[in-house]
Amino acid sequence: MSSHSDLVAPDTPETRILNALSHPVVVIDPEGRFRFANSDAEQFFSAGMSYLAKRRLQDFVPGDSPLFGLIEQVRREQSRISEYRVDISSPRLGGERIVDLYVSALADDPDLVVVMIQLRSIAEKMDRQLTHRSAARTVTGLAAMLAHEIRNPLSGIKGAAQLLASSASDEDRTLTRLIQEESDRIVKLVDRMEVFSDQRPIERSAVNIHSVLEHVKTLGRNGFARGIKVTELYDPSLPPVYANRDQLVQVFLNLLKNAAEAVRDKEDAEIKLSTAFKPGVRLSVPGSKDRVTLPLEFSVEDNGDGVPDDIRENIFDPFVTTKPSGSGLGLALVAKIVGDHGGVIECESQPGHTVFRILMPAWRESFAEDPNDTSGMQG
Ligand SMILES: Nc1ncnc2c1ncn2[C@@H]1O[C@H](COP(=O)(O)OP(=O)(O)OP(=O)(O)O)[C@@H](O)[C@H]1O
Ligand SMILES: [Mg+2]
Repeated sequence: MSSHSDLVAPDTPETRILNALSHPVVVIDPEGRFRFANSDAEQFFSAGMSYLAKRRLQDFVPGDSPLFGLIEQVRREQSRISEYRVDISSPRLGGERIVDLYVSALADDPDLVVVMIQLRSIAEKMDRQLTHRSAARTVTGLAAMLAHEIRNPLSGIKGAAQLLASSASDEDRTLTRLIQEESDRIVKLVDRMEVFSDQRPIERSAVNIHSVLEHVKTLGRNGFARGIKVTELYDPSLPPVYANRDQLVQVFLNLLKNAAEAVRDKEDAEIKLSTAFKPGVRLSVPGSKDRVTLPLEFSVEDNGDGVPDDIRENIFDPFVTTKPSGSGLGLALVAKIVGDHGGVIECESQPGHTVFRILMPAWRESFAEDPNDTSGMQG
């Protein structure tokens, strides 16, 4: 029955769409045979359709690859799973292949499973995340040193300016005030940097993300985001996030502030906050075989001009800023906090649409009994 003709895809609109996709897409039957392969899949497997029709997935991908488990699971549950950073390296595929996989049951044929392979993407983003983390670590030592070496002399300078102010002329008082204000600004900067040197384990509990977002929105509305339209797209049934509430507030304050600054001069300025449940999202833990489930997705979107091209790769690094009075520490802090929580942050930006998306672990009953037990996070 499984002659080549099974695989010679008819020239339907669907096939044309699948061929237009710049990702390999294959349909696999219960024996592991290829039932369909789009053009990119032919390239990926370095084989034409008629050849693929006579082979099985096992001939290309090592038998112990997690891909087979995923396909089985999807067929059994008739579900859909995305899995990032899956290693399907094999000599047959030309060496190292770390890919993202989107595996889905086919609605009208329970035997068939569709696999879409994505080559670049989140896998790279994860690597970049790790770089952010190491960048944050570099700041750690510096932060501790700064806090110590700058705060003390600074309070001396400020005190002296205050003293001078009491006997100064009005004209000079403008200058003493300037000294005080600038000293305060430096103290604030040092305070922000100090967060990076804090390496204590975070205290986490079940946090209601919507109450965090409400709080941040209120702060914004009365300050940096005054007059800007902020819309909400919440999933009210979302389970709590396993996090430190104060740190989450920090995260969303920074993201909302950046968004507000990005749309400041726009007429139709709009910021969108959304929450969603994404049960299929799993991530491998670098250096181990463990997989973590990060089912909660929070995002902050704006319709500003987008992240400037020249800093796009580095926005999560400390001191990267395009703002005259920016410190460039906002997103570095956000990345550190999200990373400390075992989550992931990614940014997608083009003129008129920028979105910062955060994936986080959900809270589970078992965390309450043993806060250090994260095995429940494993999917
Ligand atoms: N929503 C956004 N739209 C466009 N660009 C953004 C957005 N968010 C961040 N950026 C860019 O990333 C840079 C770094 O952001 P980050 O929050 O780390 O620092 P900052 O906002 O410049 O300074 P600070 O947060 O200390 O006030 C910004 O200067 C800006 O160029
Ligand atoms: Mg900022």
